[in-house]
Amino acid sequence: MKILSIETSCDDTCISIIEATGGIKNAEFKILANCSNSQIKTHIPYGGVYPALAKREHIKNLPILLEKSLKETKLSKKHKPVNLIAVTYGPGLEMCLWEGILFAKKLAKKWGVPVIPVNHMEGHVLSIFGKSKGKFKIPDIKFPILSLLVSGGHTQLVLIKKWMNYKIIGETLDDAVGEAFDKVARMLELPYPGGPHISALAEKLRIKNYELKIKLPRPMLKSPNFNFSFAGLKTAVFYLIKKIGKLDEKTKAQIALEFENAAVECLVYKTGKAMEKYKIKTLIVAGGVAGNAHLQREIKKITKNKVKLFFPPKGLSGDNSIMIGIAGYLNYIKNKKKTPNLSSIKATGNLKL
Ligand code: KG4
Ligand code: ZN
Repeated sequence: MKILSIETSCDDTCISIIEATGGIKNAEFKILANCSNSQIKTHIPYGGVYPALAKREHIKNLPILLEKSLKETKLSKKHKPVNLIAVTYGPGLEMCLWEGILFAKKLAKKWGVPVIPVNHMEGHVLSIFGKSKGKFKIPDIKFPILSLLVSGGHTQLVLIKKWMNYKIIGETLDDAVGEAFDKVARMLELPYPGGPHISALAEKLRIKNYELKIKLPRPMLKSPNFNFSFAGLKTAVFYLIKKIGKLDEKTKAQIALEFENAAVECLVYKTGKAMEKYKIKTLIVAGGVAGNAHLQREIKKITKNKVKLFFPPKGLSGDNSIMIGIAGYLNYIKNKKKTPNLSSIKATGNLKL
């Protein structure tokens, strides 16, 4: 079947068309079109996502991307070009989620096809099976799976004992790790989104084996649970900068390096503890921060080839609609092809897994 998937939870507008076949364990996918529009340039002057502007951009870009994706697949002239529409309904910025949902409903009515609502975080978990073009299939997976979800809005450890069944065993008590990266980047006068910029600065010093003289805290590192806290780490950077006064480029890089070391150490330590406790066979690291090179290296050290490890493939660590298409199809199969009434699909900003 052909699925059109839509993602508008934050500052990326994405539409893709995929062809999907098979059951949950042996599903196969072929990407027919993968179109997106990043709003980074729009939000740079504000140092973060400006929700009203993000909504406006989604309204503007959705019809353009739809046209483009239908054209790419040569389905544009068809009366009913796809069999199903998958759309993100949460978590995320509600006013942005609504634009994707309203667009999905309008198309569903026009084409007479059902809509399957998708949890954005489930999309991130399943993104690791995807590709940004071509074909892919769900590989043979060993349970239990642990998923470390690290994005701009979430930091969670999720236990998955069987397909499409999620239990949050730990999460951040305050800021998400991506949010902390972005806020520290702002303090260092780096552009939005800050994560990749912090990482680039830190990597430059790291390859020189630089011996750091500054030290930041590792909040909740030894707490007897799987929770995280990044607000204190961010505040520690704030006071450090205040104490130093004027920042030169070298000091900025040192702070970036020590911040990245501290954040990654917290993530990796708790992930390792959870892997031991739950006798994990597969580890999935997903979400925007999963693209961080230092995190990837440190995670590889703790899995030691004993646990099967997955990171999102190139182009799918950040927000995208391929992951929404995968999650939409697998949920459609799981629900025995039943879909909700259009009127019951609502944007849910704080949707849980
Ligand atoms: O998953 P995502 O694209 O959007 C949300 O659902 O939040 O994640 C975005 C977050 C931002 O905070 C961004 O700074 C962070 O992921 N990020 C990174 C890196 N690439 C993106 N953080 C650290 N290192 C990176 N290489
Ligand atoms: Zn995301």
